[in-house]
Amino acid sequence: IKRIGVLTGGGDCPGLNAVIRAVVKTAIRRYDLEVVGISDGFYGLVNDIMKPLTEDDVAGIVHRGGTILGTTNRDNPFRYAVEKDGQLVFEDRSEQCMAIMERRGIDALIMIGGDGSLNIAYNFHKKGVPVVGVPKTIDNDLSATDVTFGFDSAITTATSALDKLHTTAESHHRIMILEVMGRYAGWIALHSGVAGGADVILIPEIPYDMDQVANHIRARAQKGRKFSIVVVAEGAKEIGGEMVVQKMVAQSHDPIRLGGIGNAVGAKLEEMTGMETRVTVLGHVQRGGSPTVYDRVLSTRYGVAAVDAIMSGHYGHMVALRTPFILPVPLTEAIGTSKKVDPEDQLVRTAKAVGISFGN
Ligand code: F6P
Repeated sequence: IKRIGVLTGGGDCPGLNAVIRAVVKTAIRRYDLEVVGISDGFYGLVNDIMKPLTEDDVAGIVHRGGTILGTTNRDNPFRYAVEKDGQLVFEDRSEQCMAIMERRGIDALIMIGGDGSLNIAYNFHKKGVPVVGVPKTIDNDLSATDVTFGFDSAITTATSALDKLHTTAESHHRIMILEVMGRYAGWIALHSGVAGGADVILIPEIPYDMDQVANHIRARAQKGRKFSIVVVAEGAKEIGGEMVVQKMVAQSHDPIRLGGIGNAVGAKLEEMTGMETRVTVLGHVQRGGSPTVYDRVLSTRYGVAAVDAIMSGHYGHMVALRTPFILPVPLTEAIGTSKKVDPEDQLVRTAKAVGISFGN
């Protein structure tokens, strides 16, 4: 192995730059390799948009959010969307990517991404491309690793939003709803809700009953607590209800954001309790900005370990946090099933013990 490529796929996430920096430095310093940065994720791989990365290119970026390489969460080389005669058709461009890699002298790839990107990584692995994955997502819902990088930054941002909502909620005797991300898993809502002193946490894994939520808030008011804080994961749903936030666009399988559950819960609660209610949708604020200390350290460890995994021949693997170690684990263990909050999880029980309702 003389030259490796690195790309960031899917949605951005605090810590991406710290991983890229660690990959470049480790490759050059520890193994005397060359590194090529692939622009805009899989789009750049298909379209041959890449450039060499030196230590200078990655200097001073450990604390920067986003990704210096750019990313998209649309492009899949195995199902690449092209317009033909005004119609969207999907083509397999994986061989084209492999030809580009060969021409560029790229011997192995490090793909930093969530479930979608790691699936693509696995498909390349099956075609014989030496590839190693790095687990990224603010949602923390990837299997096979204790934690994904970006999660700690997202919950820090969400918690700081809750701290601010708390003071205004208290002053105005209002119900404050904070909608956070988490389509399939409620990790962000659960952790930020516990840290931010929420009264109610609604997550996809524990369908809620609106009467229970309203009763909890009324009971607080009766005890003189005339405000309440409700954290809602975007994928939360009522018992017997449907997830309202995401809708799949038939052609591309890209979710589109309707923004809804926070508003729906807020309107209903105001009606049921008679208390003034306000809704904040945190949105992409929780994906932006500088990574926390924890994420900078974790991302750096992942970047170093990814290069080590390439050099020790752990192709088709993802580097994972198996506390206290970072270990290569087969990609097959990481992809396909998202890691959900177990309703009997220790942290759920802890939250209930301190009086937080899950509306069930
Ligand atoms: O998976 C990360 C994530 O931020 C989810 O929490 C969220 O549902 C989704 O991506 C948003 O994607 P987009 O940036 O395309 O709106």
